[in-house]
Formats: sequence, structure tokens, C-alpha cells
Amino acid sequence: MSRIVLVTGGSRGIGAAIASRLAQAGDVVYAASRSGQAPTHPRIHGIVLDVNDIDGLRAGVDAIVQAEGRLDAVVVNAGNGICGPLEEMKEEDVRYQFETCFFGAVKTIGACVPVMRAQGFGRILAVTSFAALVPLPYQVMYSSAKAALEMAVMGYAVELKPFGIQCGCVLPGDTATGFTSARKYIDLAEDSPYRDRFQRCMDTVSRDEQGGMPADRIARAVARQLSRRRMRLEVVPRADYWLLSALIKLLPRRLALLAMEKLYNKS
Ligand SMILES: NC(=O)c1ccc[n+]([C@@H]2O[C@H](COP(=O)([O-])OP(=O)(O)OC[C@H]3O[C@@H](n4cnc5c(N)ncnc54)[C@H](OP(=O)(O)O)[C@@H]3O)[C@@H](O)[C@H]2O)c1
Repeated sequence: MSRIVLVTGGSRGIGAAIASRLAQAGDVVYAASRSGQAPTHPRIHGIVLDVNDIDGLRAGVDAIVQAEGRLDAVVVNAGNGICGPLEEMKEEDVRYQFETCFFGAVKTIGACVPVMRAQGFGRILAVTSFAALVPLPYQVMYSSAKAALEMAVMGYAVELKPFGIQCGCVLPGDTATGFTSARKYIDLAEDSPYRDRFQRCMDTVSRDEQGGMPADRIARAVARQLSRRRMRLEVVPRADYWLLSALIKLLPRRLALLAMEKLYNKS
């Protein structure tokens, strides 16, 4: 039976790849974003929805249930990024990061849970990031928002299990999408002591992302998760990233920080 799936951030990048892959497998997909654009496919419906607008989210979920009779799964994928040295980040920069990547994700889940609880089934799958496992230099608030979301999803997994709702996360590493060009850069102080290191780091990050996995590699992991009888709590696509994630969890934290320093904070 085809599933009814809401994918946030479905207009481009990873979300669009997820929408395409699920639709090709027979699912009916509601691809939500602020632009409302979506890949062209008879089973993909593009909808205009800002994950920071709780009323819009509730109305969107209601409309899906009205049309389809149920909501089988939500892929909480919409996200953005802002970068800058911690010392120079203003409160509004931090709020910008948490607004969509954490609060927007939590609001999305919050809009879907009552429907899924009443049905007695449902799946909540969040696209977090490998960055949730380590603080990426100059993207620390991105790492923090994704780590907070990971923790929240683990909590939902416990609280929603009695209602037949499964929860999990997919943690992509570098993936070639428009995320790189959409990332916001904070305005550095004129005499910022971070300028050169920050620039070098972000040049490396941008290069790594644009040379990274195709978005469909993440979509494949998401599709596999949704098809499992029991979803995994955490999936890290691609063997090399999976191995690194296992190492990060096993080794003393200072070694992971040392690696971050060597990779991204060169003088
Ligand atoms: N690319 C990577 O290397 C990478 C690595 C790890 C994790 N991720 C995560 O993967 C997810 C998808 O990223 P991506 O690489 O596909 O980035 P992307 O190409 O920039 O796509 C972001 C998507 O989110 C939507 N979006 C942004 N703000 C939104 C809002 N307030 N409400 C609704 N939709 C919103 C965008 O559509 P509109 O602009 O039309 O709203 C777009 O569809 C993000 O959560 C990101 O953090 C990406």
C-alpha cells in the first residue's frame, strides 16, 4: 500500500530527492517549503508551508488528512545554516539558526503527532546532520541546533512508542546541494582576529560540501528507514561517515575536537 508522506524542505536538495525517490516507489508525497516548488511527478504535491508558522503547519497537516484520510510519515528535513566565529555571533544569529533547524522541526513534529496518535501509527524521521556529533568550527550553532533536535527526537521515540509512533534520525555528511550557497555569513568585525581562519575554514567546508554525496544517497537512506518494520533510531549514510560516527562516540572527546581543529581551524 502506498504511504502518505509529508516532507518538509521538499523544494530542492535532499528534500526534493527524498520526495522523488518516495514517489517513484509509489508513495504519495506532500513536499512542503516556503516556495511551494517541488519535483514534477504525479504523486508529488508541492505545498507552501513555513515550518516556523505553527498555524500554517496545523492547517497543512489537516488538509493532507482531509484529502488522504491519514498521514503515515513525516520527514522533518527543512533546514538552513549560518556561520561565524562564536565570539562575534549576535543573539539574532543564534535565533536564526535555532528557529528553523530546531523550533521549526519541533513545530513540524508537534503538528503531526496528534494525527498520528489518533491513528495509532506513524513515523517521524528527522534529517539532522553529522554535525550533530561534533561542533563544526564556525558553524557551532548549526551543530548545536542539530544536536538539540537529535536529543528531542530520541525523547519523542520514548514518549510516542506507546501510541504506535516510531521516531528516528538520518545524519547526512557533506552532500552537494544548494545548502552551501544559501548559508548565511555573519558580518565580521572590521578588525576581527578570526577573519583568515574563518575564511579558510568556510572555503574548505564549501569545497567538501560541493564535492560531497549526491542528495539521492540520503534519499535512499530515508526510503530504507521508512520501509523497515522497525525504524532505526539513528542512521549515518555512507560507510566512511558511519565509521567516523562510531569512532567519535568511542574515542575521548578531546580527540574529536583535535580532529576538528586540524581539519577546520588551520592558521
Ligand atoms: N547539504 C549538506 O551537506 C547537509 C549535511 C547535513 C545535513 N543537512 C541537512 O539536510 C536538510 C536539507 O538540506 P539541503 O542540503 O537539501 O539544503 P537546501 O538545498 O538549502 O534545501 C533546504 C530546503 O529547506 C527549505 N526550507 C528552508 N527554510 C524553510 C522554512 N522556514 N520552512 C519550510 N521550508 C524551508 C527550502 O525551501 P524554501 O527555501 O523554498 O523554503 C529547501 O527546500 C537540512 O536540514 C540540512 O541541515 C544538509
